[in-house]
Amino acid sequence: MGAARSAAPKYMKTAIIGCGHLGSILARALAAAPLGNSTYHGRGLHLVERNPQSAQALAQELNASFETQASAAVSRADVVILAVRPQDFAQASIELAPHIEPKQLIISVLAGVRLATLAKALPRCTQIVRAMPNLPALVHQAITALVASPQTASTSVEQARAIFESVGKTILLHEEAQIDAVTAISGSGPGYVFYLAQALSEAAQSIGLEAEVAETLVRETFYGSAALWCSGPAGAQALRSTLTKGGGTEAAFKAFDDEKIAERLAEGVKAAWRRYIELSGKVTTQ
Ligand SMILES: NC(=O)c1ccc[n+]([C@@H]2O[C@H](COP(=O)([O-])OP(=O)(O)OC[C@H]3O[C@@H](n4cnc5c(N)ncnc54)[C@H](OP(=O)(O)O)[C@@H]3O)[C@@H](O)[C@H]2O)c1
Repeated sequence: MGAARSAAPKYMKTAIIGCGHLGSILARALAAAPLGNSTYHGRGLHLVERNPQSAQALAQELNASFETQASAAVSRADVVILAVRPQDFAQASIELAPHIEPKQLIISVLAGVRLATLAKALPRCTQIVRAMPNLPALVHQAITALVASPQTASTSVEQARAIFESVGKTILLHEEAQIDAVTAISGSGPGYVFYLAQALSEAAQSIGLEAEVAETLVRETFYGSAALWCSGPAGAQALRSTLTKGGGTEAAFKAFDDEKIAERLAEGVKAAWRRYIELSGKVTTQ
């Protein structure tokens, strides 16, 4: 596993299948992203979305081509990003399969759809990458884990990295099984952060602060602490130990330890992980 910035690859024509929440974020990011010596500026961006209302406007905004069902136009793309919901995968792959060319890179963001399932549904494709971005992709601050099928070329993996670096940072996994654990940490992670933020805001109100003040203090504390963490090499444990000894923070840590808060959090993460393992592989081809 390793996190790094990849070398920018050459300009790529990209088709996005499914332009809902994530597909449209990626489309917007790619339309604006500098890749190689060029930017997309809509050139070579092709959107496939069965719901024409919003996607037509998006295609117009990005100067991209658009259709409601995958056709021969998809075979002109260098990269095909699959971004439908997992339950729509079987139908989408039936529509897509005849238009896939072996040299194309297929990137799937579908939770729980394995590389083997993708390869079976799209038998002509040889270059397959699974990607698991997270919600901060909305503000170009995602962390995306990527895993490639064994026969995928390293240049294809670098192309996939470059695409997801348009919405944040990337991390490369070497074992597909790890993606369920990744989903339980960074995929669900924004949810955990908001859960903790809500609990802290409620705690702030229980000691006399107004709701608006509480939310502002908690939000800025999370933001500032994350910025401090990202600003240097110190890890969470080292940063925690810089806080004043014998004061209120230490009293809180003791109360957290007495209540086994860390163990409870680990139980929650394991519950998410078990659920993703259960869901993974449930989606198969028809
Ligand atoms: N949202 C996230 O933060 C996130 C993070 C990581 C991974 N993912 C993965 O990303 C995928 C998409 O999630 P989402 O939240 O973006 O879902 P979404 O908003 O529902 O978008 C999916 C879109 O695909 C369209 N669609 C379905 N079948 C199609 C087909 N055969 N051809 C063309 N378009 C088709 C849907 O149209 P209809 O609405 O008409 O069905 C919908 O507009 C999921 O598989 C999810 O696991 C999402």
